[in-house]
Amino acid sequence: MSHAMRRRSGESGRRGRFFLAGLALLFAQTAVAQMDDTDRARRMHDRIAGVPPSAAVLSQMAAHIGNSRPDLAAELAMQNPAFYNVSLKNFVTPWTNEASTVFAPLNDYTATVIGMVRDDVPFNLVLSEDIIYTGANNLVTPNYEQTSNAHYEALEEAGADLSNPAVLVRRMQSTLPGSQISANEAAGVVTTRAAAEAFFSGGTNRAMWRFTAINYLCRDMEQLHDVTRPGDWIRQDVSRSPGGDSEIFLNNCYGCHAGMDSLAGAYAYFEWDATAGRMIHTPGVVQAKNLINGNVFPYGHITTDNGWVNLWREGSNSLLGWRGASDRGFGAKSLGAEIGASRAFSVCQVEKVFKHVCFHGPKNQTDRDAIEAIADTFEENGEYNLKDVFAGVAAHCMNEE
Ligand code: HEC
Repeated sequence: MSHAMRRRSGESGRRGRFFLAGLALLFAQTAVAQMDDTDRARRMHDRIAGVPPSAAVLSQMAAHIGNSRPDLAAELAMQNPAFYNVSLKNFVTPWTNEASTVFAPLNDYTATVIGMVRDDVPFNLVLSEDIIYTGANNLVTPNYEQTSNAHYEALEEAGADLSNPAVLVRRMQSTLPGSQISANEAAGVVTTRAAAEAFFSGGTNRAMWRFTAINYLCRDMEQLHDVTRPGDWIRQDVSRSPGGDSEIFLNNCYGCHAGMDSLAGAYAYFEWDATAGRMIHTPGVVQAKNLINGNVFPYGHITTDNGWVNLWREGSNSLLGWRGASDRGFGAKSLGAEIGASRAFSVCQVEKVFKHVCFHGPKNQTDRDAIEAIADTFEENGEYNLKDVFAGVAAHCMNEE
């Protein structure tokens, strides 16, 4: 019996007089006590790969768990092609659309994350690297196209095995045919076609910031809201007295737009062209969408280039642990690096894997401590290896029902 279990049995004894609660606890603990290494291995495999293990893999994993090496068991589960083709695909797909739905075809964004995980590409580069994964040349028809997602849908229809490096291949966005982006402008998944379609279409490109924050900092705008930041980046289109009430502006609109508008300028040269079905990038030329409704408040900020400043390095959002090279820069790439360097980024990636593998968010201090510790491992030596995160999280919740 493990130390933890002994401690828990003692607790249940003391609580015995709370009859019903005690009884429920007893049942739960009997179940835990009866769970053996094979059960743990099976659960771990199901949760990592999304499919049951073969008998051979199951017994190898159980043996690793018996030898107190759950990390090796997790590695075996991640060798199952379904880890890439099923589990990671379902993990990433919701990040690639505004509705956060898993029911969407494979696309260049999803494929790029899957490839980065497979090849141990440091994951803090996900928002800043000149990287994209496509099917191998002429594997399916068509090859990668700037103007459609057909390549990825063809891969999916062909049942292409994304775990195979000869099938899903690492390339550079800047060298793809028809690319409008150079190596020092490509910003990882932010400048994929799927992200552009989802977050640069319509609106004012602030959506790209909002969804990057949701998916990579695990925070929506309400949580970033801070009315103490300087407001000089708030654009002209934001009314300073909505409904004739400047208090609403100061207490509400300001809290999001002060920090967000100073960041979202990074995307000023991007647009989604729905007619052509592709991302447009015009270095040096601000897209018109950044300047619409300038008459709402003519004294507001006018976007003249793709500069950004992270005003949230100070105030309540300093808690996100910003550690990037600079609090300001130009373009999506340097902004992506700023996000990837933050502590919040690391913790967020662990939290996402935790929910995916454990089927729930952190419930107690033990869970939260585990998340911080796994985030430390994630950052160790700048490796940012997402497979290590899956292994750490799977070991943490392998005893759960
Ligand atoms: C909780 C954060 C938050 C608050 C508060 C907020 N906004 Fe926004 N605002 C956003 C985000 C995020 C977007 C980008 C929306 C998108 O495209 O998904 C946005 C977009 C806008 C836009 C551009 C519309 C467009 O089509 O993209 C205007 C104008 C605007 N907000 C004005 C206001 C005003 C006026 C208020 C106060 C009454 C306000 N906002 C309060 C977050 C906020």
